[in-house]
Amino acid sequence: MTFRHPPAFPLPHADLEDLERRVRHALRTADDSALDVLGYGEITLVLRLRTAAGSFACKRLPAFPDRDRFESYRDGLDAYLRRLAERGLTVAPTEVWHTSGPGGRITAYCVQRELPPERLCSRLLHTEDEAWAKNFFVRFLDRVDAAVGPTTGLDAQAANWIDVDGELTYLDVTTPLMRDARGREQLDVRLFFTSLPWILRDVVRLAMAKSIFDKFYETRGVLLDFLGNLHKERLGALVPAFLEEANARLARPLTADEVAAYYRDDARMWELIQRLRAADRFWHRKVRRRTYPFLLPPPVDR
Ligand SMILES: Nc1ncnc2c1ncn2[C@@H]1O[C@H](COP(=O)(O)OP(=O)(O)O)[C@@H](O)[C@H]1O
Ligand SMILES: [Mg+2]
Repeated sequence: MTFRHPPAFPLPHADLEDLERRVRHALRTADDSALDVLGYGEITLVLRLRTAAGSFACKRLPAFPDRDRFESYRDGLDAYLRRLAERGLTVAPTEVWHTSGPGGRITAYCVQRELPPERLCSRLLHTEDEAWAKNFFVRFLDRVDAAVGPTTGLDAQAANWIDVDGELTYLDVTTPLMRDARGREQLDVRLFFTSLPWILRDVVRLAMAKSIFDKFYETRGVLLDFLGNLHKERLGALVPAFLEEANARLARPLTADEVAAYYRDDARMWELIQRLRAADRFWHRKVRRRTYPFLLPPPVDR
């Protein structure tokens, strides 16, 4: 086993066990209305856990088939957190909690302290003024530029940052984006795509996965994704001003048309994924009468 850093904060073990019991119950009964949802991502939802020691953001990972797969995930996450810190990024302190199930399977969560949800940057871009938005974007560009490179990726959309006391804090580390020198993804991509039924069965789609990830490893792609997602957040009005600022730093400038076209493609891809997963969930529950093992976010209005 590799050396593990001292914990950033003590994990509320008993509360997490209770949370996992409630999640299993929710999955079994196909009723997640009793879970306290802190936020939604594309892939899953983030649960809030209130405890005597404070409130936590809990991100349930896909089940690991065995301890080796789990440990290599955890090592990868630790390496990613170290790498981002070295590159000057402030990341929400993140711990991994896990519990073993039948047959050696492991259920795990990425756990962070809950940061003030009203400080989520996708929200602040709605509530604060233009001067704030401009100042945010300059700080954001510095962060992205310093962190991103051929072996280190970032999913930098506005909903992945919380602005705490003027410090941009990055949240979305559950899918560590790291590549080796030959450009191979270090993440257990297959495991993380188990909630996407089609991708596992089709080798061609797996090849496509590489191009899904490519953009996260260069500043231009990260910015294109960020700007495209502003349309999803109904923040399209900010695109022209942000484009100008971004292009001052890019060798190959981005255009508003490129951003809009990117968003249309990206929206179509996620819509397809959401529809396929909803169909898969229906198949599990209604046809095979089995428990569907993932918490899904509700459909996004794109
Ligand atoms: N530590 C946290 N404190 C407060 N809210 C959080 C925290 N982590 C995540 N969230 C909320 O949950 C949403 C999804 O979390 P994220 O880590 O980006 O997961 P995903 O990979 O599913 O996008 C965020 O956009 C935010 O609204
Ligand atoms: Mg996210």
